[in-house]
Order: sequence, then C-alpha cells, then structure tokens
Amino acid sequence: MTATDNFHRNFLAHRVLGAKPSATKEMTRLSAQLKREGHDVITLSQGEPDFPTPEHIREAAKAAIDRNESRYTDVAGTLALREAVVRKFQLDNGLTFSPQQIQVGCGAKQLLYNALQATVNPGDEVVIPTPAWVSYPEMVQLAGGQPVIVRCSAASGFKLTPDQLKEALSPRTKWLMLNSPSNPSGAVYSHSELAALAEVLLRHPHVWILADDIYELIRYDDTPFATPAAVTPELAARTLTINGVSKAYAMTGWRVGFGAGPLELIQAMNLVQSQSTSHTSSISQAASIAALDGPMDFLPGFVETFRQRRDSIVARLRSIDGITCDVPPGAFYAFPGCHDLLGRRDAANNLISSDSDLAMFILKTAGVAVVPGIAFGLPGHFRISYAASDSELEEAMNRIATACAQLRWEL
Ligand SMILES: Cc1ncc(COP(=O)(O)O)c(C=O)c1O
Repeated sequence: MTATDNFHRNFLAHRVLGAKPSATKEMTRLSAQLKREGHDVITLSQGEPDFPTPEHIREAAKAAIDRNESRYTDVAGTLALREAVVRKFQLDNGLTFSPQQIQVGCGAKQLLYNALQATVNPGDEVVIPTPAWVSYPEMVQLAGGQPVIVRCSAASGFKLTPDQLKEALSPRTKWLMLNSPSNPSGAVYSHSELAALAEVLLRHPHVWILADDIYELIRYDDTPFATPAAVTPELAARTLTINGVSKAYAMTGWRVGFGAGPLELIQAMNLVQSQSTSHTSSISQAASIAALDGPMDFLPGFVETFRQRRDSIVARLRSIDGITCDVPPGAFYAFPGCHDLLGRRDAANNLISSDSDLAMFILKTAGVAVVPGIAFGLPGHFRISYAASDSELEEAMNRIATACAQLRWEL
C-alpha cells in the first residue's frame, strides 16, 4: 500500500472519501492549467458575472474599513445587515420576518450547508430535481443524507412536476430543494407551477422546502418573481428562503448570502455557523447593506447585457448540427442538449460517447471550458456560462461550431 493509499484508507473521513469536488471548479481549474501551459482557453465554466461590483458598494466597504469595523460581528450577521435583509424580503417578496429569523453567512452556499448540517440525519432523504447546482447532492451527502435525484427533462422546461414530486416523497424525506431561476438550466418556476407543487407538499407536512432564490434578479421577462413561502403562506413555517448578493450585485468574492425561515431553524443554523466560520467578513457585511438598501439603477444594464449575450449564443448553438437549445428565462447559463452528437467520432477517431467526453473534446479541440450535464445530474447536455465578454463568447461559439463540425458518425 502506498503512503497515499494509506492516508486515504486510514486517515480520511468516510464522508470526504464519498464526496466529489465541484465539477464546475474542476473544469475551471483544468482550463487555468491549460492556460498556464500556454494554451489559448476561453473559460465558460464559471458561474460569476464579469461586471465590477457597483461603485457605491465598493465605497461603503472602504468607509467601513476607515470606521475600523474590524471586529467580530454577531454570528447571525450584524443587526444592521439583518434589518436590511428583512426590508428586502418584505419589499421584494412580501415575506415578513424578524431580524432573529435571518442568518447571514459566507455566501448562499454556507446557508445551504448550515441548513443541511443542522437538520439532516443519516438516512434522511433530500429531494433534488435535476439538473441542479453541483453542490446540492454533495452537501446532502456530507451531512449524512441521501439525495433523491429526480430528472426533469427539457420537455418539462427542466422543472419538477407535481406527479414527479409525489413519486419522490417518502416518510424519510426531510427537504425538497428548489432553485429558481435555476443553475444550470435557467428555468424559472411560475406562481402557478409553485402553487401546484405546494398542493402536494401540503399533504406531506413533514417535508421542508429549501428555496434557493440566488438568481432572483436575473430574469428576462416581466412575469413577477415567485417564491414558495410567498406563493403558499401555509408553507412558510417549513420553508427556508435563501438569497444573497453574489450574482445580481456582482459580488461573488465578497462572500455574503442570507437565509430567512422559522426561528428554531435559524437558531440551529447559527449553532452550526458559530462552530465553523463564526460569520462572514465585517467589511463585506457593511458593503452588503449598501447593496440591499442602495440604488438599483445598474441592474437593468446588467440584465440587458446578459439578455443580448443569451440571445446570440442560443442562436449560435441552435445553428450547430447535433445541438438543441431552449431559451433560458433566467440566470446566466445556457444548457444545450447534445444527444445527437453522442456516438460520433472526432478527427482522430475517438468516440464521443457521453456529455463528459464532449466537454473534454470541446476543451481540448476548441479550447473552450464548459461543464458536462452529468455534473448537474442530467446527462446529454452541457452548461455554458454566458457571464463572459461578447468577444470571448463570439470566439468561443465559432470554435465550438468548428470543433463539432468535425464530429462524424462511424462509417
Ligand atoms: C444555485 C446556486 N445556489 C447557490 C450558489 C452560491 O452562491 P454564493 O456565491 O452566494 O455562495 C450558487 C453559485 O454558483 C448557485 O449557482
């Protein structure tokens, strides 16, 4: 046995051995490595806006540094930020919370992690409609739970139907995780779709709802935003609504997310956070107050830029033989289908048998990093983040089209 084998077998925790690293981060790492080796790679695997954080938010952070706001804060986040979050939920979503019902953490990601760590026991089931963000099943497993994956096809707009939900629930179900707008599909649940899911959930009072609304503000039509606790107030007593500043305010690196829900749940999540990160940076918290309370005039410009990129890449993708692509109504990802490319061979006669093969082929041949659908629990697709410059996107689409054109059926 090598020293590495020994370390893995005898030292690492089973929960870590069973966990996978984030596939999106892995693809981004691989593309960075190729770049270091001198290859020309366009990275479309990362889920973050390419805009700078708006100036008034940056100024608020500088002012907080100058006021020497450099101490530990409350575990749940500063009262001032939690009050701003209360106002946000009230004004944007019609949801009423007290500051004690709010937790602020290191990104929406930590809120999800805290919630699962605080509630999931070994064997508990968590229903995850896929395609879903790569971290959901891994976080459930790290908490000792069992992800119950429900595949939602392009035919249903990549959305969970009430019948699928009924099928997936069991006496061991603890949570249903819903993400709208969705990473990776961009799908957005309407008020009536959430109401139909709620009808099922009302008949299963032991199931809690985790609503991940992190892409709330990045939507491309005028349909009002719907979130489960507002659509069906009877569900509010068992819903955790998660949001944050990362995506809409171009603040991914500042690490601020927040969640709101029943007091007892938030208290348990505070316990988890108090024994891990304590809280997120005091300076980032001060900046986030400026984000939530400040002007939103920058947002229409962000969203319009994303819309133009979305429209042009969807059109380009649709023109490629073997690729299908619906128009995503939210977030900044396209999730094209590639079933018709699978089974073909590249110029060196290598078989492209899966979406992972295709993503690797696109990386190596076209020099474009995309993420295979299998990472999101729905094979036969891949994800492109269009949070990249117009020129990069145009070049990437040209390269993908040229690379895919060389794929041939076996003679
Ligand atoms: C669906 C979803 N939820 C949560 C997050 C985490 O966001 P944050 O940067 O706030 O941790 C992401 C980030 O990619 C995401 O796509």
